[in-house]
Amino acid sequence: MEFLDNLVLPQSAEHIELLHYMLSLVLILFIPFISIVFGGLVLSLNHKRKGMKNSDSNSLKYAKDVIQFVTVNNGVGVILGIVPLLTAILIFAQLLHTAQVSTVGYLTLSFLFVTVGLIMTYVYRHSFVISQIFSSVAENNISDQNAITEVEKLKFSTQTLAVQNGKWAVLFLFIGIWLFIGAITTAANFSKFDVSGVLQLLFSYKVLINLLIFISFAFVLTGSAVLFGYLYWKENLLITEEYKNFLRTASAKTALYFAVPLPFLIALNLFSIPESFLSGTVFFYGITALLLIFLGWHFIYMILQYKKYNYSAHLFFTIIFAVLALIIKDQVAITNATATHSIVLSTQFDEMLSELRGAGGIAEISGKELYEVRCASCHQFEQKLVGPPHKDVLPKYIGKESQLVAFIRNPVKIDPAYPPMPNPGLKPQEAEAVAKYLMETYKERLN
Ligand code: HEC
Repeated sequence: MEFLDNLVLPQSAEHIELLHYMLSLVLILFIPFISIVFGGLVLSLNHKRKGMKNSDSNSLKYAKDVIQFVTVNNGVGVILGIVPLLTAILIFAQLLHTAQVSTVGYLTLSFLFVTVGLIMTYVYRHSFVISQIFSSVAENNISDQNAITEVEKLKFSTQTLAVQNGKWAVLFLFIGIWLFIGAITTAANFSKFDVSGVLQLLFSYKVLINLLIFISFAFVLTGSAVLFGYLYWKENLLITEEYKNFLRTASAKTALYFAVPLPFLIALNLFSIPESFLSGTVFFYGITALLLIFLGWHFIYMILQYKKYNYSAHLFFTIIFAVLALIIKDQVAITNATATHSIVLSTQFDEMLSELRGAGGIAEISGKELYEVRCASCHQFEQKLVGPPHKDVLPKYIGKESQLVAFIRNPVKIDPAYPPMPNPGLKPQEAEAVAKYLMETYKERLN
């Protein structure tokens, strides 16, 4: 993804924050949509297979209703499936600019698979509708026996085409989703994730846990959405009480079975986040998602056991909020994980800006003065005070001044022999001036 990296420039701290909000928004559009499409496709195919095998008209009708409901129409596929994923690629290219992380590459690969998968899903949907037309023609309007066999043949071939397409769509979407989750996991673990190559990434336990969470959520969300759509929102569409019962049981059971392992999986995921990125906020959103799922269990039970259809709206929104909580949780984890890198980027931006303005910008702040007031109480060149002597720690920053600036602006725990360094609360230019002063003052003595 070199060419994307060449397109982007270092950004100001404010701009980077804005990018994080945009990323949340984009993921909030993409993740629920692609989950429902994937879950709905699998559910529909499964019922179609059952329906064709046992000539069960309820299963066949259910298969059609589910796929029609979850895919809405072609435009929605583009707007919610394709555009957000493209946008996410561009945002990550910007956020991870110059970092040696392959997130953007994996996302691009995921984009290709998801796009093909979505196109095939829509073909499945349409061929389904066409085969339904053929079958109603065959049943109703024709008296000529030859014509009936012709129509039956056409019906059979479109149905086979639909199923074939559906199967390929599942495969492509699955691989696309897996890659997507791999990409997001690399970003959320940033520098603390040692994998080389796609396969090692995809089969790492962190990615597998996240994949299981995604798949489970996909079915819970699909089940809830179908319940909400057909029992609450469009309830008068349903024809027979028998089919209504069928739809209720099929959807609620799907939602229930997949909701059971979710709390456990989410707990596993929380424990797999590197400790230094696991802030209180990350934990809070993780726990919120957990509680919402427990609430979801309750609603599913009410629907399944007591036919309380109005709970299907509660259920659907509870699950949507659980998904949102998880997305925000990942988003905060990504922000934490890339915090230092973001400071490196915004520092480069500040450098660029002051170069453009002429050398004046930084020279006004005296690095020496700042150092004496803010740092000298804890540091000396030769001797250990509260902090380590500069002669031990500065050599690794030679030629990497922006890393030093990043550390000064946002110290992280490094050497277990020392307490953590408190954040000196310097502005970007001040931190730069101090770093410059340090490097220049000790340049000769460091070599
Ligand atoms: C209250 C004491 C204190 C002050 C004030 C302080 N530091 Fe530190 N500094 C520390 C300690 C303690 C460490 C060791 C932290 C660690 O290894 O986790 C440290 C570590 C460092 C390191 C080494 C980082 C590394 O990669 O190993 C640098 C460079 C540094 N400080 C620069 C500064 C500068 C510049 C200032 C002034 C803006 C400053 N410090 C102010 C206590 C302080």
